[in-house]
Amino acid sequence: MTLTAVQARAYLHHLAIESSNPERLAKFYAVAMDMDAEQVSDTEWRAEGPRRHILAVKGKDKTLRFAGFAVKDSDSLAGLKAHVEAQGVEVLDSPSPYFETGAFALRDPDGNLICFGLAKPDKGHSKGRHGPVQHLTLASTDVRAMMEFYTGKLGFQLTDTVMDEGDEMKTFFSTSNHEHHTLACFQTSVQGIDHHSYEVGQWTHIRDFCDHWASNDIKIVWGPGRHGPGNNLFAFINDPDGNKIEISAELEVIHDRDAGVWPQAEKTLNLWGKGIIRT
Ligand SMILES: [Fe+2]
Repeated sequence: MTLTAVQARAYLHHLAIESSNPERLAKFYAVAMDMDAEQVSDTEWRAEGPRRHILAVKGKDKTLRFAGFAVKDSDSLAGLKAHVEAQGVEVLDSPSPYFETGAFALRDPDGNLICFGLAKPDKGHSKGRHGPVQHLTLASTDVRAMMEFYTGKLGFQLTDTVMDEGDEMKTFFSTSNHEHHTLACFQTSVQGIDHHSYEVGQWTHIRDFCDHWASNDIKIVWGPGRHGPGNNLFAFINDPDGNKIEISAELEVIHDRDAGVWPQAEKTLNLWGKGIIRT
């Protein structure tokens, strides 16, 4: 039996981000995102909180080492693996320490390493602010190829696209479960990560995070606002390496609808005000 990413109920579980200074990066996440930072080797630190895990690994700043999507159960994992193999995608070993044996990985057209597996039990990070890591937004010079890979080869569901006046795709949003997007991608002149997001659920939790950041002298760089696609409320900060971190609430829950099309316009990015159009 083969299963798409949606049928496997995949959800973003963790990210491994390269940094020239993993200790500084992990300690920033510990403060900003209410996590615990721990050194695990000379080249790796981890920041962990309730339903959020960030690996900070020695390397090039603002570079994704890998992303980890967990699936519902072992049948889902086997079905998804069979699906991607049937699509001709090369299956690799997963490097993720957060997945049980049997996890696998693959590379998207830009070379991003995406892992799928069964999450190991959380190590007791049940306390702390609510805010599971929820979506990854990539940047690519060929967003259409990325859309075709994630929806066509992996079975993510396309939920919205942003098109410019020349009918060129500028952004796509896709999901692997009920959330409006778990994986999105912007067309840009450079490829890599655009941002990653934590879904706090309610507006008041965004307020609380903003107060928490203020008390730690961390400035908001964009927002609060509300995105068009996904209709989610948001606020953004930057980590010390320049990675963009989003706090989101009220992200649309997808039941059953066709993919929407939005114009490449400031209001698509922020219904309330200033939009940051990627170039
Ligand atoms: Fe986002």
